[in-house]
Amino acid sequence: MSRLFTQLNLLHGADYNPDQWLDQPDILEKDIAMMKETQCNVMSVGIFSWSKLEPAEGEYQFGWLDNVLDTLHANGIYVFLATPSGAKPAWVSEKYPEVLRTNSDQSKNLHGERHNHCLSSPEYLRLTGNINQQLAKRYAHHPAVLAWHISNEYGGECHCDGCQHAFRNWLKNKYQTLENLNQRWWSSFWSHEYSSWSQIHSPGPKGEQSVHALNIDWRRFVTEQVALFCRHEIQAVKPYNPSLPATTNFHGVFYDYDYWRLAQEVDFISWDSYPEWHQTRDQQDVASYTAFTFDLMRSLKPGLPFLLMESTPGTTNWQAISKLKKPGMHLLSAMQAVAHGSDSVQYFQWRKSRGSVEKLHGAVVDHVGHLNTRVGQDVKQVGAALEKLANVAGGDYRAEVAIVYDWDNRWAVNDAAGPRNAGIKFEETVQQHYQALWQQNIPVDIVSQQSDLSGYRMLIAPMLYMVNEAFAERVNQFVAAGGVFIATYWTGIVNPDDLCFTTGFPGPLREVLGIWSEEIDSLYDGQKNQLAITASDWSSPVQEYTCKELCDLIHAETAEVLAVYQQDFYAGRPALTRNRYGKGQAYYLAARTEGAFLRDFYRTIANKHGIAACTPMPVPEGVVATARHNAGLTYLFVQNYSDQAVTIELAEESRRLEPLLSGDRLAGHQYAMPAFGVEVFLTGA
Ligand code: GLA
Ligand code: ZN
Repeated sequence: MSRLFTQLNLLHGADYNPDQWLDQPDILEKDIAMMKETQCNVMSVGIFSWSKLEPAEGEYQFGWLDNVLDTLHANGIYVFLATPSGAKPAWVSEKYPEVLRTNSDQSKNLHGERHNHCLSSPEYLRLTGNINQQLAKRYAHHPAVLAWHISNEYGGECHCDGCQHAFRNWLKNKYQTLENLNQRWWSSFWSHEYSSWSQIHSPGPKGEQSVHALNIDWRRFVTEQVALFCRHEIQAVKPYNPSLPATTNFHGVFYDYDYWRLAQEVDFISWDSYPEWHQTRDQQDVASYTAFTFDLMRSLKPGLPFLLMESTPGTTNWQAISKLKKPGMHLLSAMQAVAHGSDSVQYFQWRKSRGSVEKLHGAVVDHVGHLNTRVGQDVKQVGAALEKLANVAGGDYRAEVAIVYDWDNRWAVNDAAGPRNAGIKFEETVQQHYQALWQQNIPVDIVSQQSDLSGYRMLIAPMLYMVNEAFAERVNQFVAAGGVFIATYWTGIVNPDDLCFTTGFPGPLREVLGIWSEEIDSLYDGQKNQLAITASDWSSPVQEYTCKELCDLIHAETAEVLAVYQQDFYAGRPALTRNRYGKGQAYYLAARTEGAFLRDFYRTIANKHGIAACTPMPVPEGVVATARHNAGLTYLFVQNYSDQAVTIELAEESRRLEPLLSGDRLAGHQYAMPAFGVEVFLTGA
């Protein structure tokens, strides 16, 4: 990967809101001293400062921000300068009530909160454009400013008349004629045909929700609208210094917008990660879910590091139960980000605000105002670690395996009625597949149906219900050229118009998979079936696994059968198949299984197809490793997510590993790691 910034190696910092402390000028000075103490080198400034920057329309007050930027710069601290569109001053709503957001039930919001505005309002576009231009005019060449932090966690949607109008225009552009729209939306169903564009309305609880193609088109439109809003914000600042990069902070697997699309608008990806450590959910699941999200964020812009823009140094204040991080967890959690391709560890927030809704949210500096706190010490430890890892900056992440995760498919599979309205569990299924590889230290990238597949040797598409024919064609080529493809039940059901394939499921993937899926059985919670392995090259002594929830009844056409169902009227029918296609192979997993099966399945096929783990040595249960590579060196991040101390047995050839964080804990062949411990080993390439 290439470096994001020449000025800094790894970044350490936080959202900083000095605008809340302007009546206490000593605070800035104290903060800067503590930033230095924690080795922080970048602050995100101005995210929610609109009312301090423009207290009345066209009246600007930049003096305080001049002082903040100049003082930070004089002390060697860089800045991500934010545009303030995430929350607007009260005068905006009072003067231009049209900017207030309308909900899907047509109720209109009052002023308040944040992200409570209409994305197509000409007034909101004008006002945000103005303040952005003013900021850029003044600061685009300020030496403290590293990049633009555009808005904050774009979110939600507006259903006002202006947005309905914009939606209809988007539809006209896509379908050209109403006849075409009616046909592709299958709107003759229930007599829902439209005879004029003005009859079309966004989906909502009091109106239309049953036309699936309308629902998904609305989501695509909303994504486009936010992407264009982001573009509008960037276009307002870029001309003043085209070389200053822009990002907006994403929030992981956020459902509302297609992040593959939004990613195209920004120069680099940044995101906000709030894993719920130490809760009742299995710690390994939380760690794996977080790892997946990091991999997704990295994959949104292939070849570039991403930034962890926010994480909590202590606890959040919005979870049902706010657990403190146990000793070690702050460093481990921070290192997990870097291990997956982040070139930063940043926090929400630097200093706790004294009042309002986030006054009890974790921060580097607590209300007591110094760093002699557990959290303060944890943050210092991360600062020191990032310093030791300076050469990781810009380091590669190398994966031969890719998992398909596509928003169109997410929206479609969750919206479809049947076969399991009690929980189709698409996202959980992707997590399960990912976790099986993560546990085995096999690096993974995430891809969409539009992504470049070259460079991968294994492609996994769990529950790819909505399949784009062009993607299916590229899968054929991928497998024909020697790739390994894995698909599951509930794949290839609809095309991107949400119309079912009429060529037998899995539609355009039928040939490469060599199977026909005739029916799918849905099981109640607690109901089980079993699959029994019949393949001779299975890498585990276990030969029978539990199936649950969804069991596909398939016919092996050209595929060979590797496992069969054990129970019910479909006992003996194929549950796992492999099809040889060109130089490659395509596997079809017909049933949802327990994690144990996926682990053994991926171990078997990784061995068979020579997909390697990133570790030179085995690591104990509960411990995982990920690697970054830079300048001929490998940085192996070994992470212990268990609450038990472990000993890592170093194989003979891996004894040349040098522990970068602790420096000296290597005793012969063994490395002792505490509960929630982390170490970064440096090795040759
Ligand atoms: C989000 C927001 C922040 C803050 C944090 C609290 O990530 O971007 O402004 O509200 O949540 O966890
Ligand atoms: Zn609107």
